[in-house]
Amino acid sequence: MAEKQYDYGMIGLGTMGRNLVLNMGDHGFSVAGFDKDASKVQAMNQEAEHRSIQGFNTSAEFLSALKTPRVILMLVPAGPIVDSVIGDLKPLLSAGDLLVDCGNSHFTDTDRRSEQLEKEGLHFMGIGVSGGESGARYGPSIMPGGTREVYGRVAPMLEAVAAKVNGEPCVSWLGPKSAGHYVKMVHNGIEYGLMQLISESYHLLKETGGLNNDELHTLFTRWNAGALQSFLIGITADIFAQQDELTGNRLLDMIRASARQKGTGMWTSQDAFSLHVPIPTIDMAVAQRDLSAMAEERSAARKLYPENRYAGAVDKPLFVNQVEQALHFSMLVTYAQGMSLLGHASSAYKYELDLARVAGLWRGGCIIRAALLEDIRVAFTRNPALSSLLLDESFATTLTGLLNGMRQTVTTAVAAGIPVPAMMACLAYYESFCREWLPANLIQAQRDYFGAHTYERTDREGVFHTHWLSE
Ligand code: 6PG
Repeated sequence: MAEKQYDYGMIGLGTMGRNLVLNMGDHGFSVAGFDKDASKVQAMNQEAEHRSIQGFNTSAEFLSALKTPRVILMLVPAGPIVDSVIGDLKPLLSAGDLLVDCGNSHFTDTDRRSEQLEKEGLHFMGIGVSGGESGARYGPSIMPGGTREVYGRVAPMLEAVAAKVNGEPCVSWLGPKSAGHYVKMVHNGIEYGLMQLISESYHLLKETGGLNNDELHTLFTRWNAGALQSFLIGITADIFAQQDELTGNRLLDMIRASARQKGTGMWTSQDAFSLHVPIPTIDMAVAQRDLSAMAEERSAARKLYPENRYAGAVDKPLFVNQVEQALHFSMLVTYAQGMSLLGHASSAYKYELDLARVAGLWRGGCIIRAALLEDIRVAFTRNPALSSLLLDESFATTLTGLLNGMRQTVTTAVAAGIPVPAMMACLAYYESFCREWLPANLIQAQRDYFGAHTYERTDREGVFHTHWLSE
């Protein structure tokens, strides 16, 4: 047995793992780390300083250095690597040991792993961790799922390392099984939606509004002091000001406009479709990343289709104001779609999520942290059964006040030929959601016409089929 016994283990000493270990060390927890890559172990040991943290090069040394029953966190890339780490560890673990997957695992993998490991006398938790490198180091938002009793074993440590808002830690047990990873997946879906909306605003302000990078920097800095205050608006303000060391231009102008993705946004859309919950803004954000990556085809299309754009001038201050309102409106609608998905998933998967709690722990540390999450938290506290944020009176008042700016912005974008699909999706979602009648009667008639799929009537109960004119 190793001389010193550590409270926690961490497998995976990449950027996120190493920073989380340092954060744990800062809060007085002793942590043993393990990574197959010896240089990462060495890097962590060099950074350890006064902290009670130590990296090990072999899993045997690592495991024997942990207090039992062991609590082992994993921060390794999602997918087969998680299974392979678990497979390697399993024979060396003892009953009662707890494995905590802190990566962006797909929620169905978390359910499968929990079930399998619990059968074998081991415990498993899936925990979403958001905030990137600096979040892991100085306070992430943490979304834990798993059994409540097992959560108790890590709660004091997670509460210590998490971001704080008004002294409250941005972590709270969310629900059984994969609840934590599901909430993290939807967090990332919202993240995709917000990033796309901000990019569309940038496109409009740059090309139609004629704002240069300095003006954009000033504008986003101002926005970040008002209702739009959020992590993503703040970093975007910084991005407009960043110089490129190689050319002296703004770095943003030197970056290839082709977005990458690891899949969490797509998973959100895939599961929303399977649960029949509309989240069109997030769907559109995923599609636009895909479209942005189709550079060759877009370049060929550009040659085939002559530009046919409205070149009329806009009233700059008025337009900037309208875009601000459109972005605010769209951000609210995007959160509403994400929360609606969480509400439906909670029933379908029996997570029993407390949506006020989710909004509460997203207020700090994570990528989608924003001032408006406090209003979302309050709305779900007022009415935990709220099926959509659009049905909250205070949200209705805000959205109604922003609607004109939203419509004007989309109208200007259409006239100017600027693609704003995520904004359009927000507006269309709102317009559809807030109408009692949608033209689905015609869809039902068509289905019955060609497939005898039947329809219901507005004036009497029952299911009907008609022999339509040409049948
Ligand atoms: C977070 C981020 C983090 C990661 C994204 C990036 O919450 O800290 O969401 O999980 O940066 O997964 O995702 P893409 O590579 O798909 O953009």
